[in-house]
Order: sequence, then structure tokens, then C-alpha cells
Amino acid sequence: MRDLLERVDCAGKRTNLMPDILVADDGPVRTIRMNRPEKKNALTQAMYDAMAAAIEEAGRRTETRCLMIAGAPGAFCAGNDINDFVAASRSGALGAQVLRFLHALARREKPLVAAVQGAAIGIGTTMLLHCDHVVAASDATLATPFAALGLVPEAASSLIAPRLMGHARAFALLVMGQPLSAEEAKAAGLVNAVVAPEALEPAALAAARAIAALPPEGVKAARALLRGSPEEIVARIDQEADVFKQRLASPEAKAAFAAFLNRKK
Ligand code: COA
Repeated sequence: MRDLLERVDCAGKRTNLMPDILVADDGPVRTIRMNRPEKKNALTQAMYDAMAAAIEEAGRRTETRCLMIAGAPGAFCAGNDINDFVAASRSGALGAQVLRFLHALARREKPLVAAVQGAAIGIGTTMLLHCDHVVAASDATLATPFAALGLVPEAASSLIAPRLMGHARAFALLVMGQPLSAEEAKAAGLVNAVVAPEALEPAALAAARAIAALPPEGVKAARALLRGSPEEIVARIDQEADVFKQRLASPEAKAAFAAFLNRKK
């Protein structure tokens, strides 16, 4: 693996100046690591942009055959940065960067493996619906408290989750905000394997390498059949985003954001 872990910025340019997103190529496997542990990997607009660029660039890079997304000890991803939600609720603009990331996730043709540990909240959980293989540490907790925040599901989770786990379980997750342990997420079909935290990254990397060792054109064709039309997914992402934007400006959402940001005062 290259010694220097790099960031891919929104123009696809590489730099190691801002390490909130680290991108490392190890032969045919590209690892995208969310690396803002002091904020539990809450995602900023710049982080979405960097991840989108890394996915888009991997699509053009013939050596890359599989992607892996990982977090930091104790936190896969605590969801969208709530300070950005507050800014968006004032400006009325939902970040184009979020949509760029979600579209890149939905449209990419190369398989994606996730290594999930600790908290996976909001988009930290819904991005897993776009992965092809998910390995979770036994300490992982998946939760999408959208309704409690006055919000609605995103990332086409309102389409993919009911297909995956049925309406009742999707409602409990996406609307009631009931968290899933790693084992519960496995039972719901969202996670392939649950391992000890120290075994997480080796297990996820082994899965990514096994996928990368398969004939790439065969994997691409098979994956496209399993996944169906990316445009159906993209259309739902955009439909959800319209409602999400309205909800961000709602009194319910503003009160929930203020409660989170003031909880330690
Ligand atoms: N947006 C902005 N900051 C966040 C954040 C988010 N989504 N999630 C965590 N942080 C910040 C906290 O404000 C805190 O910052 P501080 O040290 O400057 O006060 C830091 O990350 C650590 O979080 P903390 O809450 O102290 O850690 P914890 O271990 O007690 O709890 C979580 C971790 C993830 C369970 C909790 O932070 C949480 O619930 N975050 C919000 C998740 C969420 O609702 N996301 C949006 C989903 S749509």
C-alpha cells in the first residue's frame, strides 16, 4: 500500500493537506476511509465531495476492481454534520456535494465493500444499502433517526430498505429510528458477516481482494443484473432530496438540531 494516504478533492486532484477522507490504492482495491474521528466521522460537504471524486476516479481507473469504505475506531460515520444541516436549513440549499456522492454511489459499476465499526448513523447506515458486501464489527450500531430529527429517509433508502428487509422492518429502522445491532443488521440482510473489532478490517479487505480477483467484466455484468437500473435509484435519491430540503427548514428539524448542538451546555 502506498505510504502516503491521500485525499482526492472535488476535482479529482490528489492532495494530502486535508485528511478527513483518506484514499489508498492497494493493488486492485481502493480504500476510502472517513477520517474525522474527533467528530465521529460526521460528514461535511468537503468530505462528500472527496468521497464522490474517489468513487468517480476509481470508475475510470482500470487497475481498480473493488472499492472498500471504512471509518475510524469507534465510528464508521455519525451521519451528516448537523452544523451543515443548520446552515442548509437557513440557506434552503441542500449541498450539491451530498447529491454528487449519492449519485456516484448509485451509478458506480465497481463493487463496494464496507467495514463498519461503532456508530453508523443516518447516511452512515443508508450508504450501506449501496454496498455489495458489508462486514460489521460486533460493536457496530446502525441507526437512522430521520423522523426524530424531523427529516425523511435519504440515499434511496425509502426504496432499497423495504425491498431488502420488508416494509415493517424498514419502517422500524427508517421512521421509528430503532437501532440495529450488528447481529440484527445481519438478520435483516444488511450485513454479511459480524466479526470482532480487531478482525474487522482484515476480514473486509479479504472480501474486497476476493471480489477483485474475479474476472472484472463478469462481476460488472452480474452486479448490474442484481442491482437493476441505477436510474431508478437516482430518481428516488432526487425525489427524497426534494422532500428532505423542505423538512430541513421545518420547525421540527430546527428544534431537533438545536437540541443536539446544545446538549452539552
Ligand atoms: N454532526 C456534527 N457533530 C457531530 C455529529 C454530527 N452528526 N455526530 C457527532 N458529532 C460531534 C459531537 O458534537 C462531538 O463534538 P464535540 O466533542 O465538539 O462536542 C463529537 O462529535 C463526539 O460526539 P459525542 O456525541 O460526544 O460522542 P458519543 O460517543 O457520546 O456519541 C454519537 C456518538 C454518534 C452516538 C452521537 O454523537 C450522535 O448521536 N451524533 C448525531 C448523529 C445524528 O443524528 N446524525 C444525523 C443523522 S440524519
